[in-house]
Amino acid sequence: MSIDQIIAEGVAKAVKALYGIDADAATIVPQATRKEFEGNLTVVVFPWVKAARKAPEAVGAEIGQWLVENEPAVARFNTVKGFLNIVVEPTYWNKVLAHIAETPDYGSVPVTENSPLVMVEYSSPNTNKPLHLGHVRNNLLGYSLSRILEACGNKVVKTNIVNDRGIHICKSMLAWQKWGDGATPESTGKKGDHLIGDFYVLFDKHYRAEVKEIAERENIPAEEAEKRSTLMAEARDMLRRWEAGDPEIRGLWERMNSWVYAGFDQTYKRLGVDFDKIYYESQTYLEGKEKVLEGLEKGLMYRKEDGSVWADLTNEGLDHKLLLRADGTSVYMTQDIGTAKLRFRDYPIDRMIYVVGNEQNYHFQVLSLLLDRLGFKWGKDLVHFSYGMVELPEGKMKSREGTVVDADDLMEEMVTGAREVSREMDKLQGLSEEEVAEIAETVGMGALKYFLLKVDPRKNMLFNPKESIDFNGNTGPFIQYTYARIRSVLRKAAEKGFAIGDYSSVVPNDKEIALIQTLADFPSTVQEAGRTFSPALIANYAYDLVKQFNQFYHDYTILGEEDEPTRSLRLTLCDQTSRVVKAAMALLGIRVPERM
Ligand code: ARG
Repeated sequence: MSIDQIIAEGVAKAVKALYGIDADAATIVPQATRKEFEGNLTVVVFPWVKAARKAPEAVGAEIGQWLVENEPAVARFNTVKGFLNIVVEPTYWNKVLAHIAETPDYGSVPVTENSPLVMVEYSSPNTNKPLHLGHVRNNLLGYSLSRILEACGNKVVKTNIVNDRGIHICKSMLAWQKWGDGATPESTGKKGDHLIGDFYVLFDKHYRAEVKEIAERENIPAEEAEKRSTLMAEARDMLRRWEAGDPEIRGLWERMNSWVYAGFDQTYKRLGVDFDKIYYESQTYLEGKEKVLEGLEKGLMYRKEDGSVWADLTNEGLDHKLLLRADGTSVYMTQDIGTAKLRFRDYPIDRMIYVVGNEQNYHFQVLSLLLDRLGFKWGKDLVHFSYGMVELPEGKMKSREGTVVDADDLMEEMVTGAREVSREMDKLQGLSEEEVAEIAETVGMGALKYFLLKVDPRKNMLFNPKESIDFNGNTGPFIQYTYARIRSVLRKAAEKGFAIGDYSSVVPNDKEIALIQTLADFPSTVQEAGRTFSPALIANYAYDLVKQFNQFYHDYTILGEEDEPTRSLRLTLCDQTSRVVKAAMALLGIRVPERM
């Protein structure tokens, strides 16, 4: 039982004994006592004041006195208005610490056969471009959220929808056919996704030029000229041929997409994310089309004169939504209907979470309504985990295309940066080239991940590479560095042959108690992060924990402590702190180095 539970049960017994009130211990939630008062845990006594017919202060005092007399874990108390501040018997904290040390997978609730199944969709790229900074935030949030939900006792299926068909990929294909000269990743030495992205940009360049030329020649506005673009007409034609299963187009499409996937795989690997099940739009959009046509027959959708199919959502306060184009090809929304249907057919999903940027809030509002209208009972309950934009401060990094920051370039710069900072700080002395590379990778990626995950996901943010890699402050490297330092203390202790013995009778000091109490907060923090979908809570917890540790480490000696039980207590604190730091960082998808 945790100390919070012991206090809660003690208080429940006290109010029963004192006032005859039946209080449910589960509803009594002790909070950490505020710094300005003496105490470890605080219980609010207002709920019992009326039945006790006494002033809040008196009720607090009576409950406190009862606890001191009957609950061995309680040493003293004081009251401030209706707040009962409880001082836990100092040696009791040793039991709390020992309990943490004995708990396997501390912080996690085991997943059982009956655990709910949560599907988390994240990443979900289009195949015409490489991943960029926005995708990095997306992937990190999705991966971390999955780990957190798993730690909260859910079965988690990590999924990805690859939007591998549509007009965007036809543009890249067309540009490659016209101007590619047979270029491949091998012949150019470019990553496949970058190569395809370059052709997408090339299409756009030629298209712009064509539109400009038409507008000038015919003296018409750009929007008119766009309609006469032969390039765009060719891309559209390609999409029709693709949907009709034209073998030449399909062959080219498969070849080019396979280049892109090889590139994505490399990026995912370096980011440290993965998926249990990948869906491809090319395999789901027909299901969507079918559902839309079914809906049309039932009168849930309508057809316009030009043949396009729409949903009227004005009754729901939205507008009209296109579901099939006049030429019969499907749109982004259509495939999402098919994808959702297949997912719920493939898995007994209790909760479906889409990690997608907030520019698609409207899309998911519509998707949910449409699925509901089409008769999927789970349509209403889809969760859109909507996050804000992330940008770099002006001029911080040159990006390949001038506008977006490429994910691969960014990761490379972070790792190079980590190597430089570590070298400047003389942290790499005596290490082999391989070890240096490994540490630079861990620290550079840790800096990036931590910085992006420590903030509220809903907020837009600036990613500042220099600040993220600072070894002092609320950063990944600071936490990683503290971890490595603790591991080094533990290695030295082992070299000296210090074993951990009985420390139950040691009276821990305030810093030690504060550290144990923070360690004890880990499981409830994980639960809270799962409830609120908040990796940021875990990040900030890890930061608090290492700060707490550093205060203790600054004030007390560990290896130099001669009293054996006290040294055992401190070594256990080192051991458990490093373990919890590692577990918390793992929930963020961040690795920690053994030395640094
Ligand atoms: N591929 C889309 C894009 O890049 C994002 C897909 C999000 N997921 C979904 N189920 N619609 O904009």
